[in-house]
Amino acid sequence: MDEKKTIFSGVQPSGNITLGNYLGAIKNWVNLQEEYRCIYAMMDLHAITVRQNPQELRKRTLDLLKIYIACGIDPEKSLLFIQSQVPHHAQLAWVLNCYTYMGELSRMTQFKDKSSKHADNINAGLFTYPVLMASDILLYQADLVPVGKDQMQHIEITRDIAERFNGVYCQEGNPVFKIPEGFMPKAGAKVMSLTEPTKKMSKSDENPKAYISLLDDLSVIEKKIKSAVTDSEGVIEYRPDDDAKAGINNLLTIMSAVTGKDIDKIVAEYQGKGYGDFKKDVAEAVVEEIRPIRARYDELSNDKQYLVDICEKGAIEASKIAGRTLSKVYKKVGFVQ
Ligand code: TRP
Repeated sequence: MDEKKTIFSGVQPSGNITLGNYLGAIKNWVNLQEEYRCIYAMMDLHAITVRQNPQELRKRTLDLLKIYIACGIDPEKSLLFIQSQVPHHAQLAWVLNCYTYMGELSRMTQFKDKSSKHADNINAGLFTYPVLMASDILLYQADLVPVGKDQMQHIEITRDIAERFNGVYCQEGNPVFKIPEGFMPKAGAKVMSLTEPTKKMSKSDENPKAYISLLDDLSVIEKKIKSAVTDSEGVIEYRPDDDAKAGINNLLTIMSAVTGKDIDKIVAEYQGKGYGDFKKDVAEAVVEEIRPIRARYDELSNDKQYLVDICEKGAIEASKIAGRTLSKVYKKVGFVQ
């Protein structure tokens, strides 16, 4: 038996993958590959809870795969697949919908946010989105789910649904679902918008200056950082609870995540220096971090067959694992097999 714990996570191919996605998630996933059995997916079923342009969705899904690999996720070590290519996700989601209450789904902050943003399209999928996410995680008997803070509520509901199902159908000590835990890797930085630094950097922000896409031109990245909103105090200090300092806090967080240096150390290095110098150095550090990722990404763009092969192999392997869980579930609920 494989004794490594299983990690499951994924990103929706619904916008530009940002520096925030990279520093907050993907960069840390790379480090987890040695110690854990890692499964990372492209969550296209989730993406259609808000309207997507079909050509763009298709392109972004493969772009996301290229980004995963370019950032250092090794398809030989980690299982990579496209969610819609493994039918078990939608199948389990239906079953679990019948074990999830309207009341608990109504309390999800992300639902409330997204339904106010997309008031013209508050569809049932948006409402049951956490059930699909629960299915993603539970199918693979994941132990750990690295996610950002905004997704922790979805992990909680996943645990509740799993416990409820186990409670109805399983004997003590022989559960169908492993109860997963969410975790925020220590190094996982929460990167904020460059124009409104009290808001999270979002890949669907209307203002492209607010975020850095991993696919932006390097010169654009440099410019965006150099024009990031700061304050007029002129002191490089980290004051995480002071909103007036949010811009500088954010640049310090980014610098720390990219260089691996503690924030305190960076602050000490910049004592007496101005924002201009600091921004220039942050811009350079970020550009140098992204440069090799971009080179690898461009290389992968010329090798479509390689990507298709990874998806095919990934879907087959994922289906095997997911199929085992789904058939236990079907048996428990009383479907003829
Ligand atoms: N909801 C997650 C997000 O928006 C993406 C996601 C879908 C996910 N299914 C998942 C993350 C399962 C972790 C595990 O970021």
